[in-house]
Amino acid sequence: MKNKILIVDDEKLMRVSLEDKLTKEGYSVASLSNAVEGVKLLQSTNFDVVITDLRLPKMDGMDFLREIKKASPDTVVVIMTAYGSIENAVMAMKEGAYDYVTKPFSLEELTIKLQKALKHKDTIAENIMLKQRVLSQYGYDNMIGKGEGMKRVFEIISTVSNRDTTILIQGESGTGKELTAGAIHYNSNRRDGPFIKVSCAALNKEILESELFGHEKGSFTGAIKTRRGRFELADGGTIFLDDVDDIPLEMQVKLLRVLQEREFERVGGEETIPVNVRVICATKKDLKKLVQEGSFRQDLYYRLHVVTIQLPPLRERKEDISLLVTYFIKKYATHQRVGVNAISQEALNLLLSYNWPGNIRELENVIEHAVAFCTSDVIIPGNLPKNLVEGETPSGIFPMELSAIDSIDLQETLSDAERKLLLWAYQKTSGNQVRMSEILRIPRTTLQNKLVKYNITKTNISVAEQI
Ligand SMILES: Nc1ncnc2c1ncn2[C@@H]1O[C@H](COP(=O)(O)OP(=O)(O)OP(=O)(O)O)[C@@H](O)[C@H]1O
Ligand SMILES: [Mg+2]
Repeated sequence: MKNKILIVDDEKLMRVSLEDKLTKEGYSVASLSNAVEGVKLLQSTNFDVVITDLRLPKMDGMDFLREIKKASPDTVVVIMTAYGSIENAVMAMKEGAYDYVTKPFSLEELTIKLQKALKHKDTIAENIMLKQRVLSQYGYDNMIGKGEGMKRVFEIISTVSNRDTTILIQGESGTGKELTAGAIHYNSNRRDGPFIKVSCAALNKEILESELFGHEKGSFTGAIKTRRGRFELADGGTIFLDDVDDIPLEMQVKLLRVLQEREFERVGGEETIPVNVRVICATKKDLKKLVQEGSFRQDLYYRLHVVTIQLPPLRERKEDISLLVTYFIKKYATHQRVGVNAISQEALNLLLSYNWPGNIRELENVIEHAVAFCTSDVIIPGNLPKNLVEGETPSGIFPMELSAIDSIDLQETLSDAERKLLLWAYQKTSGNQVRMSEILRIPRTTLQNKLVKYNITKTNISVAEQI
C-alpha cells in the first residue's frame, strides 16, 4: 500500500512541483494551499505524513500542527521553513513535529527525511501492538477480562507492578484477588524472588504472629526450635497477606512497623531483622468501615491504602462471562481429556442470567462440573448444576411432601437437612470456610464442628454428593 502524504504550502510552484516529484517517487500525494482546508481533510482522511510550510495564510503552521496532533495523533509532521528561521522549526518540534527541512531543499534531502519519518511511525505502531500483545499475554494470560472493569485492573497492574508500593486488593470472594496478587508479583522485577502467601483468616493470634515473624527456640511451649517467619522467607520477593482485615488489633501494630521500617523481631527474639519485601494485601471487607467501627487501625489502613485495586464482582461484568466460559471449557476439557469444546446458547443464557454470588470461582466450578457431565462436545443446560437451571433457593433444596407421611423422625430429618446445606455451602465456596460461615451465617468454630460431625472433607465430597 502506498504511503499517503499531504503537502500544505501557499506557494503554488513549490506545491505543484513537490506533489509531482513525490508522486513519481511512489507516494500517494494530496496538496493544499492553506491549513484550514488541511484540518478539514485530515478529519476525513488518514495521512501518514503531513509536510507543511510554517508561514501560511488564515491559519499558521504552528496552529496547524496542534490541530493535526488533535485530529490525527499518529500522523507524522515535517515542517518546511525558510532559511534563517530555524528557531521556528525548533519550536515546532517541541510542539510535536518530527523533523524539518530548510528551503531551498533537494528532493533527495526530503525523501530521506520522509523515509525516516515513515519508519518512526511504524516503530510507534509496532510498540503499541507489542504492548497490547504483552498485556493480553501472561502477565495476565490467565486473567481473563475484556470489559472496562477488568481493563482498568490490567492498567493498574501494568503501572504499579514494577514499583515497590504496597497494594491493597479489594473484592468479593472468588473475584480473583489471589490471581491478581500473583500477576503483580510475576510482572514485577521481584519475579525471580519468592511469592509467599499467608491467609490471616485461618490462624489465631499466637500462631499468626509466629507464622508472620517467626520465633526463637523456647519462646513459648512447643517452640522447640527457632523458626523463620513468612516475612523472612519472602525476603527479595513479595508477601501476600490474604484476609488482612482478620489480623487482630494488637498484631496490626507490628505489621504497621514492618511496613514503615521494613524490620521486625521474631517472637521471643531480640535481634532486629531487616527485610526487603513488597507487601500485597487482600480483603473481602470494606476496610474503611472497619476503621470506623474500631476493629482496624486507621494508621495501618492509610499505609495499605496507597494503591487500591477494586476487583468488580462477576455480576457487574457479565460481558466477560462468555470469554471466561470458553477459557474454562478449554482448561477442564484438557484436564479431563475429553472433547468438550463449546456451550449451547441456551446453557450460556442460563449462565448470563445467574447472579454469581461466588463470582469467578463459582463459574469455574460450574464449568468443571458441566464438562464432567457432558456426554457430547457441547455443554447443554442439563449438564449444569441444578441450582443454576432451577433457580437458587436453598430452602427448596429438599422439598418435602408432608401430606403423604404420617410421622417423621425430626432429629434425623434435621440432620439430613443440615448435612445437605453444609454440602451446598461447601460446593458453592469450594470449601472456603470463611465464605461458608458467611453464607450459612454461623461462626467459624460452629462450622468446623459441624464439618467434623458430618465428616465433610475435600476427599469425602464426591460428584455424586453434589446437590
Ligand atoms: N479474571 C480471571 N480470569 C480467569 N480466572 C480467574 C479470574 N479471576 C479469578 N479466576 C479464577 O477464579 C478462582 C478464584 O480466584 P482467586 O482465588 O484469585 O479469588 P479470591 O478473590 O482470592 O477469592 P477468595 O476471596 O475466596 O480468597 C481461581 O481459580 C482463579 O484462577
Ligand atoms: Mg483468595
